Amino acid sequence: MRLSAGMTGPRYTPLAQSLPATVPFVGPETQERQRGAPFVARLGANESVFGPSPRAVEAMQQVAGELWMYGDPENHDLRHALAAHHGVAPEHIVVGEGIDGLLGYLVRLMIGPGDAVVTSDGAYPTFNYHVAGFGGVLHTVPYRDDHEDPEALFAKAAEVDAKLVYLANPDNPMGSWHTGADIVVALDALPEGCLLVLDEAYVECAPEGTAAPVSADDPRVIRMRTFSKGYGMAGARVGYAIGAPDLIRAFNKVRNHFGMNRAAQAGALAALQDQAWLAHVQQQIVAARARIGEIAQQHGLTPLPSATNFVAIDCRRDGAFAKALLDSLVAQGIFVRMPFAAPQNRCIRVSCGEVADLDAFAAALPRALADARAG
Ligand SMILES: Cc1ncc(COP(=O)(O)O)c(C=O)c1O
Repeated sequence: MRLSAGMTGPRYTPLAQSLPATVPFVGPETQERQRGAPFVARLGANESVFGPSPRAVEAMQQVAGELWMYGDPENHDLRHALAAHHGVAPEHIVVGEGIDGLLGYLVRLMIGPGDAVVTSDGAYPTFNYHVAGFGGVLHTVPYRDDHEDPEALFAKAAEVDAKLVYLANPDNPMGSWHTGADIVVALDALPEGCLLVLDEAYVECAPEGTAAPVSADDPRVIRMRTFSKGYGMAGARVGYAIGAPDLIRAFNKVRNHFGMNRAAQAGALAALQDQAWLAHVQQQIVAARARIGEIAQQHGLTPLPSATNFVAIDCRRDGAFAKALLDSLVAQGIFVRMPFAAPQNRCIRVSCGEVADLDAFAAALPRALADARAG
């Protein structure tokens, strides 16, 4: 049938029609195409330049020829290994396409048009993107001293009768953190009927005691983890959530059962079994954070303490200055990002890198500062 005048073409839902066409992040590849040149140093997406465990690489290579088969829709082996690793039951764990994918499923399970959700102003934006996608209404509270503020988040949740409240610990983009014990204390003020989404993407990069000691059976909290950061497998897209069995089971109603890549399943399992590699990467992260801090200080900038695989650098001026600095770094082939919201946007955010990556950052910084000052 030909489309005649007056016909509308695809009939979007009113919600989809109302959504902006913006995406949460512009990828480095997009920027490289725009620049017409590859980046010299890829320090903007908090990937792990230190890479996955060699055992994970080998496992993925071995599975490559078996990719004619779908992955196990139950993620059985990985889920059981994760359960053993965390001392919980497999029923407490759902595996999905990164934390990003799991956040989408969780929001779909909980949030319909008009439902209230709470997060911090300038916190991880992919969560907000999912909330908008299901018609939720986002309420925000400010950071306090560059930290997400559990007390303010939970108070706001009570005020607006939120169904979900999001807290990343450690936080992106500031790299700040609370102790797990402090989060547990703050939980006393979480209102009835509100689920805490505790995003622990960076917990493998954080000091001992940062992971919240919450029972896997606690129905108030779902914890999100990923193989993208410490384990160095961002491109494999493997994340998981730990929570009460009823909530974990609910994911089966909406998740993409064949969403997991078979090679990624094998790679994540091998990565989990190679904790020595993770320990090695943790050392590299500590060293790289220190070096980023030195570079910043040498140029009169202030590195903020970090429990992640990146450092937020306070450029000690306003957002426009930090943006000009960032633009110059990008123009010089250094991929970095910066926080979205004031006052955090006085910072740029630099991911941990190899020595050569950080040398390239150090070499580009003086001109970037001059460009920004000339701004
Ligand atoms: C706080 C936070 N959560 C989640 C993610 C994404 O994790 P995944 O790669 O597992 O989707 C990131 C990545 O930058 C992050 O910073």
